[in-house]
Amino acid sequence: MRILAIESSCDETAAAVVDDGRRLLSSIVASQDELHAETGGVVPEVAARQHLRAIGPVVRRALADAETTWDAIDAIGATAGPGLPGALAVGFATARAIAFARSLPLIPVDHIEGHVCAAWLGEREPPLPALALVVSGGHTELLLMEDHGRFRRLGGTRDDAAGEAFDKVARLLSLGYPGGPPISRLARTASGRDLRLPRAWLPGSDDFSFSGLKTAVLRVVRGPDPPPAAEVAWAFEESVADVLSRKATRAATREGVASLLVAGGVAANGRLRERLRERALLPLFIPPPALCTDNAAMIGAAAFRHRHEAVDPRASLDIAPTAARGQAALGRTAP
Ligand code: KG4
Ligand code: ZN
Repeated sequence: MRILAIESSCDETAAAVVDDGRRLLSSIVASQDELHAETGGVVPEVAARQHLRAIGPVVRRALADAETTWDAIDAIGATAGPGLPGALAVGFATARAIAFARSLPLIPVDHIEGHVCAAWLGEREPPLPALALVVSGGHTELLLMEDHGRFRRLGGTRDDAAGEAFDKVARLLSLGYPGGPPISRLARTASGRDLRLPRAWLPGSDDFSFSGLKTAVLRVVRGPDPPPAAEVAWAFEESVADVLSRKATRAATREGVASLLVAGGVAANGRLRERLRERALLPLFIPPPALCTDNAAMIGAAAFRHRHEAVDPRASLDIAPTAARGQAALGRTAP
């Protein structure tokens, strides 16, 4: 089954062609990073308008790169939420229009489930049940994945998402947007490695918290004798990688799962990947960085798993690309 997938929930306009939810034929991502660097964050209205400009060319390129024609496409998958409503609407409406015009099934996909399904695009197939840590700009979720579409939420952030913390600290250090990559680059140049920033362990809970860490960074940077920015970046990254890796690997051991999946933009972080590899006592699946940050290949992988839940685009007027629907998809639990 060949799926054309579309993703536009935040600030990447993306399209991909995926066979049987496993084989990636093409993946095109048009990033809006430069556009949002000016404002140091995503302005929803600006993002939506840019999606509108990019979506046509991105879809055409995904088909061309996959060397496929419309006739070979069996279904359209699209992110239905959660995300920025205006941004989601562009991708979802495009997907619906294509499905309608070509009489193809339309498969709505939950963005977070999409991130998790990126693990199925690799060589090995992750054994289930799995523990999934999804760390992105909008989400920090620890999920028990019993099967495709069957998730139990163990915990999540109580305040900032992990990626959001990277973005906010980057702003404090006058680095660009998104904050993850420049913080990592700067951290690698740190000569002093004495600064220790707090870790919110929240004992007995699978939740996370990053606001205290952010405040600690603020205090250090605005303090009387601030250390070099590189040292602050290094200590911040250490703290985040330490907490995420330890809590995820511990929960995986406790739940007795068969694999640990890590996904979302922050999973592209080199230090976090290192710490997870050190600590994981079970098969660990982290997609290559390009499949960690937002992309449509992961949406194609997830759409295949939900192919029997396709909707008729003509009858789907009631399917709103809202955050609520996305959350609902992840809420599907085992009986
Ligand atoms: O998954 P994603 O592309 O979009 C959302 O669904 O939010 O994640 C974007 C987030 C941003 O906050 C960005 O700073 C962070 O992921 N990120 C990173 C890295 N690359 C992206 N954080 C840490 N290290 C990285 N290398
Ligand atoms: Zn994402």
